[in-house]
Amino acid sequence: MHVVCGFLLAWALPLSFAIDDGNDPFHWLSALRSRGYAEGSLLADTTGGECPEVCDCPPTFPIAMYCDGRGLTAMPTVPSRMKYLYLQHNRISAMPDSALDNATNLVWLMMHHNELSTDKIGKRAFARLQGLERLYLQHNNLTSAPTNLPRTLRDLRLNNNHINTITPAALGGMDNLTILYLSNNDLTEMGTSLTGLNSLTLLDVSGNRLNKVPEGLPEHIHQLYLESNAISTLPEGFLGKFTQLQYIRMGHNQLTDKGIPRGTFNVTGLVELDLSFNQLERIPPVSHTLEHLYLQANHIKEFTLSSFCSVVDVMNFSKLRTVRLEGNEISAADVPSESALCLRLASSIDV
Ligand SMILES: *[C@@H]1O[C@H](CO)[C@@H](O)[C@H](O)[C@H]1NC(C)=O
Ligand SMILES: *[C@@H]1O[C@H](CO)[C@@H](O)[C@H](O)[C@H]1NC(C)=O
Ligand SMILES: *[C@@H]1O[C@H](CO)[C@@H](O)[C@H](O)[C@H]1NC(C)=O
Ligand SMILES: *[C@@H]1O[C@H](CO)[C@@H](O)[C@H](O)[C@H]1NC(C)=O
Ligand SMILES: *[C@@H]1O[C@H](CO)[C@@H](O)[C@H](O)[C@H]1NC(C)=O
Repeated sequence: MHVVCGFLLAWALPLSFAIDDGNDPFHWLSALRSRGYAEGSLLADTTGGECPEVCDCPPTFPIAMYCDGRGLTAMPTVPSRMKYLYLQHNRISAMPDSALDNATNLVWLMMHHNELSTDKIGKRAFARLQGLERLYLQHNNLTSAPTNLPRTLRDLRLNNNHINTITPAALGGMDNLTILYLSNNDLTEMGTSLTGLNSLTLLDVSGNRLNKVPEGLPEHIHQLYLESNAISTLPEGFLGKFTQLQYIRMGHNQLTDKGIPRGTFNVTGLVELDLSFNQLERIPPVSHTLEHLYLQANHIKEFTLSSFCSVVDVMNFSKLRTVRLEGNEISAADVPSESALCLRLASSIDV
């Protein structure tokens, strides 16, 4: 028995080493590491180029540098060839002006889940990144947006910080900004900070302390997330100017019937409307094209079919598929039988 085991091991060990040598793309890296290079120094490599010891720069993708989840407390040196930099899930608290001096080719910079605070980010730390398109700074300790952000940004994520002000200068001129996450911050108002963001299609400002809808919302917006704020009234004709708005989430606000001007939600194009957890007593009229309507946890006392269909016949019916009304002051008995015709696409009406 022992003889057999020894024989198998003798075969298995050299074989597994041979496999590692052939297949491990980072073999060269661990070999260099084992020679004991000092932290922070750059290692020369014949295939991928220099790379900080604490990070991985795969030779097969030499323009990307992976430094995520390494317990870093300071910015590593970034070689100038890098376009994609992954620094998320570390404990980096400061970003001096010079940190990215050589990293002028960056296109993506992932720094979410760090400990960056606004006062420890150099005023010009991002200024030289003239090709940066994606910047993830969510889950840090920022109290305002960093200054001099590149105007080339397309996707900017600043959610889950402690941001309490956003100035027009922070975002002005970002002509290509398409996605902006500012959710879960401490914003009480946004002033005119969104003016001129002509490409913006998604705005998430949920989980702040806004008491009104931000001004100057870009016309091409598709998705507008305002839930968990303190909004009680909506401006007249609020949705009239948006031609592409499909998703509105306004759950967990303080909306009342009086705060919603007549016909606000009767606009074509809307697909999803979330008004759950507000103080509505009536179902607001919605357009025939709406597919998902969330009204749970309000104070609705009456099932008004006319809110969905002003005319009920074979030809005129609502496209609603989801209608949620539970947690209101109505029961299944309040749903009139003609609803079957008007709401013929709804798979269920939850009351
Ligand atoms: C930038 O590159 C120069 C020249 O290679 C080097 O001396 C300097 O330390 C680099 N700076 C940073 C912040 O990486
Ligand atoms: C976040 O910032 C506040 C004040 O700016 C500071 O007191 C706190 O220690 C910071 N937290 C972290 C995790 O850096
Ligand atoms: C927006 O994108 C276009 C096309 O890629 C580019 O020409 C333009 O310079 C960009 N604008 C900014 C402000 O970066
Ligand atoms: C919505 O507006 C259209 C046209 O403006 C109107 O015909 C329709 O009755 C309205 N729908 C509801 C449910 O009020
Ligand atoms: C009812 O449907 C017909 C046919 O699609 C349409 O011509 C008419 O305008 C609709 N009426 C209302 C009030 O929506």
